[in-house]
Amino acid sequence: MRHVDIAKAIKDPKLIGQEVTIEAWVKFNRDSGKIIFLNINDGTTIKNLQVVCKPDALKNFDQIKGFRLASAVKVKGTLKQGREPGSVELAASEVKMLKLAAEDYPLQNKEHSNEFLREIAHLKARATTTQAIQRVRTELAYAIHHFFHTKGFIYMASPIITSNDCEGAGENFIIKDDPANPFFGSATASLTVSGQLNAESYALGMKKVYTFGPTFRAERSHTNRHLAEFWMVEPEISFMNLRQLMLVIEQMFKNVVSKVLDKCKDEIEFLNKKYNNNTFEILTKLLNRKFVRLDYAKAVDILKEAVAIGHKFEDNNIFFGKDFGAEHERYLCEQHFQAPVFLMNFPKEIKAFYMKANPDGKTVAACDLLVPGVGEIVGGSQREDDYNKIVKRCQDMNINPSGLQWYLDLRKYGYFRSAGFGLGFERFLMYITGVDNVKDVIPFPRFEGELRF
Ligand code: 4AD
Ligand code: MG
Repeated sequence: MRHVDIAKAIKDPKLIGQEVTIEAWVKFNRDSGKIIFLNINDGTTIKNLQVVCKPDALKNFDQIKGFRLASAVKVKGTLKQGREPGSVELAASEVKMLKLAAEDYPLQNKEHSNEFLREIAHLKARATTTQAIQRVRTELAYAIHHFFHTKGFIYMASPIITSNDCEGAGENFIIKDDPANPFFGSATASLTVSGQLNAESYALGMKKVYTFGPTFRAERSHTNRHLAEFWMVEPEISFMNLRQLMLVIEQMFKNVVSKVLDKCKDEIEFLNKKYNNNTFEILTKLLNRKFVRLDYAKAVDILKEAVAIGHKFEDNNIFFGKDFGAEHERYLCEQHFQAPVFLMNFPKEIKAFYMKANPDGKTVAACDLLVPGVGEIVGGSQREDDYNKIVKRCQDMNINPSGLQWYLDLRKYGYFRSAGFGLGFERFLMYITGVDNVKDVIPFPRFEGELRF
């Protein structure tokens, strides 16, 4: 007798005809009079296993009718080919109740909206949608680590508690301290908005490094793509320029997408059906396309032209120096190019202090990767390598360089050049799964006004 997971039970052809036991939860209980069909799921696959219960085979047949959804059961029986081609079912010889669930279990045997699942986040891991998303999330994280590992990158932990504001946007969550006996002395401790600055320090010693950890932003943006706590992948590579950096981003992107498509076909197809989109097909085609490279100045022309021929943005005021909104980003990649777009060489006024100044004196060597359906998912740049220029930049932007002195000092000790980027992990997941709200691709989303679970 073998004890198996449902994933194995339905995938391993050698198990057909074998007797097995399985522990799982009841997803669906249908009594057809003569037979009870008990669909069970143990979370090892998004698929349910149909357990066929017949009165002559089961002593407790009448009780099984009362086995409520979510109850934990142990089933013994023989695996058989199901009626649909390739499907498997279990002919039960024993169905044991391990723990009966209460009657008020809120998830019924139907598709629930993501808004509803957010309200019962403590139970949503029982929903097929959540399970599918979480499986893609797992494979994506693994593929990212695998990509960097095989390329020889060092995986480094950037600190979560910090005294700096890497992006200079004043969005750090401040950690409460005891003013009478401050834990960190005179420094104001906060949660990091980005692991980049510490990653740069390691890149200066170990050439190719990356961080992959949680980052925090007190952004009061109520959009479908902002979280207060999100995960970011931040590689930093010494001796690299912007052009080379975009090649790395594109290569990583395609490599991990192709792995996830391979591993998570069932999950993505399930989500595509639910959300009535076709990300699986779109992503498959994308693997053979070169991403567009577009100068910010050229993008301004394209957007102005769009307005001139009657396209209505919520904000139609397009000018050089504007920080584009999601609607502008999406117009560029969804309508104009219909492909992922590297937007590059932004005006320095709308970008962070650490980006390398271009020779034109107006722009910086930065790139954002924009993708259809989401907009920006990656922000990266070549870093300013000149000590005096970066100090001047801090002054111009009213950034107090005192807490950043260690970072500026990196420029003094063999800092020839480096480039890096930040990939918003949840935004990437939105793109791959086609889920239209970033709050639904992370287990317990953190956003303004919500801290229940
Ligand atoms: O463009 P950002 O702000 O860049 C940085 O933080 C750099 N320090 C990265 C680097 O060069 N090492 O953020 C990077 C990405 C964005 O492109 C976006 O995908 C994601 O992080 N992101 C968010 N995702 C969810 N919720 C938010 N509030 C986000 N803010 C940024
Ligand atoms: Mg950005």
